[in-house]
Parts: sequence; structure tokens; C-alpha cells
Amino acid sequence: MKKVMTIAAMMLLYVLGLSACTGSKKVAKVADESETTKKGTIDMKGKKILVAYFSWSGNTREAAQYIAQKTGADKFEIIREKAYPTEYTPCTEDAKAEKEAGERPAIKGRVENMAQYDVVFVCVPVWWYTAPMPVFTFLEQYDLKDKTVIPFCTAYSGPSSTLRDIVSATPQSNHLDGICIVTKEMGGKDMEQKHPKIDKWLTEIGFESVTKEQISFPIGKRIDNPAFTGEAYLKPLIAPDSVFNFPQTNVVTFGPGAHSSWHRHGGMVVLVTDGVGLYQEEGKPAQILRRGDVLQIPAGVRHWHGATKDNWFSQVVIYDKDWQPSEAYNDRDNAVTDEYYNGLELVEHAHQTTVDSLMFAAPDTTMTLPTFNGPIRLANTVDAPNVAGAPGLHYVVFEPGVINAWHTHPGGQILIATDGIGYHQIEGQPVEVLHPGDVVMCPPNVKHWHGAAPNSRFAHLAAGTNPDRPAVVWTDEILSKEEYGKLPKE
Ligand SMILES: Cc1cc2nc3c(=O)[nH]c(=O)nc-3n(C[C@H](O)[C@H](O)[C@H](O)COP(=O)(O)O)c2cc1C
Repeated sequence: MKKVMTIAAMMLLYVLGLSACTGSKKVAKVADESETTKKGTIDMKGKKILVAYFSWSGNTREAAQYIAQKTGADKFEIIREKAYPTEYTPCTEDAKAEKEAGERPAIKGRVENMAQYDVVFVCVPVWWYTAPMPVFTFLEQYDLKDKTVIPFCTAYSGPSSTLRDIVSATPQSNHLDGICIVTKEMGGKDMEQKHPKIDKWLTEIGFESVTKEQISFPIGKRIDNPAFTGEAYLKPLIAPDSVFNFPQTNVVTFGPGAHSSWHRHGGMVVLVTDGVGLYQEEGKPAQILRRGDVLQIPAGVRHWHGATKDNWFSQVVIYDKDWQPSEAYNDRDNAVTDEYYNGLELVEHAHQTTVDSLMFAAPDTTMTLPTFNGPIRLANTVDAPNVAGAPGLHYVVFEPGVINAWHTHPGGQILIATDGIGYHQIEGQPVEVLHPGDVVMCPPNVKHWHGAAPNSRFAHLAAGTNPDRPAVVWTDEILSKEEYGKLPKE
């Protein structure tokens, strides 16, 4: 239904977009755009940041959440008190009438202590060539004098005067150059390319690159090996054994500019957990990898990995458990020299589309199952068979407070916590509180449950180990509200 609506929206806006290009007045407005938002940068260190956003169909919400996650900002959603129609055409009519009447509709809630913020991102969809009217209600409600206001929009065909209108509505603020993510330029694909664009823009306006503190998995110990240049770290995550039969799995983290030499090994599954890194196979351009990207390196392919110059970068790597190196793989002359690294031509990897700031790609709608007490999202992050010979990895996203029923796995299960705060409990044992990078090994036929803490969305990767055995046997017992309410909170 949502998809049908989006397509209908795009069709209509294509027409709107064309009319914007044929009317001379509108063309002039678009051409003016670069003059209307002020160029410049800001040192964001120690600044308190708010991302205020309005979104009707989700594009701007997703982008705003990404900006907030990258900048460590608080978020505020601007919601009109009287909800807009959920159908596209009635919504456009409502929005048009409101715009033509210059209304300032009432909005829900307030930002607590706006005075504390130094920087306010204002993220909006383009509605009838400008921002939705509730955004102006919001901007006029607060004293934004001397704060830095940064406009951002998403649109089907173009920003029109939207970025400039946000600037005009905040005359006493300082401004930085905004950008507009135009979905039409992406061939109608759901904003697939937006994260690299947002990253580039944030860098241009002065945001720090990904720091060590933003790496969510534990980084382990510094690697002391001449095969690595710069600060590289290793944290063993899963050691192979005869109970789970899961391949060796590690977290490898690189500081800015750090990288490996050229090398080869068995097939490797790489899951990028944070930051911006590089991966190059011999004879191919180096690819930029970002949080949420997943790749499989076939056995024996000569390659190197590392961070980009300014960013920390962290990845989970799953090794091919059966691979035996042969003499032919004894690399010589394998250094990735500074000269080579600094002169690289980079291409973007085909990035995963992540939603709501989650680590890995997941559907943007939730589902309910009888074995969970609330909505979850489910995705296949790594299929089996794969180059590492590992079982498939499923990504399970639990909304706050959602847990599953007691169950067993005849082949056992491994969980790798990725987002938020969660719980895991083995029957007869205390509840474990899980954070990103924590690993749960639940042996075959042992009863357990897992899920989210009450105030945090939680996600993990899950592997059904020994996949030749049945995956899961559910019971209908689930922790009571009372028992759940007594669990530790953070
Ligand atoms: C009421 C309405 C008016 C719109 N007007 C425009 C427009 O003038 N120009 C444009 O390029 N896109 C227009 N769009 C498309 C949206 O700007 C675009 O789909 C945006 O990414 C939606 O963001 P959201 O998913 O956060 O609501 C309009 C959409 C709606 C619902």
C-alpha cells in the first residue's frame, strides 16, 4: 500500500517538477538556490545539536535520524496536531490549501529547553515548493537567535525555494549550506544513495569524521604486526568449537588512515559495523565501505582493507573455517605504500539501505508473530551458503519492550547484539543485559528468550548453528509483564 502511494506520489510530483521547470519564475528560484544558503563551516566539537524534522511518508524521518546519529544530536519530530490525511491526494490538497492560506497549524509537543542547543538542523520534505506549514509554526515558536540553523530537505524533483524559506524564517540565526536529497535523481530508488551524500555534506560543513567514540563494538587490542600500517585493533568475537561449529569471527578496527597490506585468505564475510573504510581487490578500484555494508571476499582473492584517511572504521569478519593456505599465496612485495594509499581513486560500494539509523538493512515496516509480544523487523543479512561456510545471519529488530517466547534451538544459536540495549536469558540463569558487540552462545536444546529493554529498540544478528538440525522449537510461555518489569534498566 505504502509503495503504491509512493509511486503515485512520484508520478504526480513528476508533473509538478516539470511545471516548476517550465515556469520562468520557478526556474529563477531554483537557480537562486546557491545564493540563498550561506556557505561556511562550523567547528562542531562540544556543540549541543538538535535535529528537528517533519516527515509524512518517511524519507525525511530516515534521513534526519541518520543525521542525528552521525552528529550525536537530539531529535524532535514536528507533528501537526490534526493529522494529515493518510492518502496521498487528500494530503496534497490539505497541504496546498494550508499553504495558500498561509496558516500556522498547531503542532504537538515542545522542545524541552531549546536554549541549550547551539545548532539546529531543520529537516523537511518539499511540499508545494516550500516546507510544510507546521515547520514554520515550529520555527516561529522559538527564539533561535544566534543559533546555527542548517536546512535540509528531501523532494521528488527539487528543493525549489525550501532551503531558502527556512533561512528566511530564521532571520536572527546563523546559517550553513543545506542540501536537498532529490529522489528523482536516484531513478526512483528509495533514497539509496543518500547516506554518502549526507556524509559528504556533513564533512563540507565542518562535522568531524567518525571518531573512536562512535565505534559501537569493542575494539580489543592493538595489532602489533608489520602487515598493518597505523592503528589497527583486533577483538576475537567467536572462537570455533565442536558445539556450535561456527567459523572464527573477529572485530577488526582501523584508526584513520590505518590499513592492512595486500594479502589473501579463505572466503571471508565482512559486516561493516561503524565508520567509513576501504576495501580493494587486486585489479579493481578501491571501494568505500560504510556502516551496514556487507560483502563476501572469495577465497584466495588478493586484497587489502583499511580505514579512509579521516574516519575510524570497524568491521566484523567471519573466516572460512576450512581454508588451508597454499604456497602460491605467499605474497611478496605486498605493501600498500603511503604513496599508493594517498593516490587511490575511490568508488562507492553498492551500499545497503538502512532505515531508522539501524546498523543493517531491514524492512521499514514491522511485522507481528505469535511468538513475539510485539512488532519486530526481520531481514536476511547474510545468506547461506556463503564464502565463509557460516550459517545464514538474520537481523532481528525488536521495538522497545518486545521480547520473544521461551524456545530452544536443536542446533544451538549465536546472537551478536548490534543496536540498542537488549536482554537474553537462559532458563535457570540471570538475565544478561546486551549492548552492541556482545555475543550470546546458546547451546543446542537449551531454553532461552531474548528481546529489547523497555526504553530501547534492540537488534541482533542471529545464526542458527548446526543448520542440519531443526532451527527452533517454540513454547507458548512468555515472561509476564510483572517479571519483565523487574528486569534491570539502564
Ligand atoms: C503534499 C505534498 C507536496 C509535495 N510537493 C512537492 C514539490 O513541490 N516538489 C517536489 O519535488 N516534491 C514534492 N513532494 C514530494 C516530497 O517532497 C518527497 O516525496 C519527500 O521525499 C517526502 O518526504 P517524507 O517521506 O519525509 O514525507 C510533495 C509531497 C507531498 C505529500
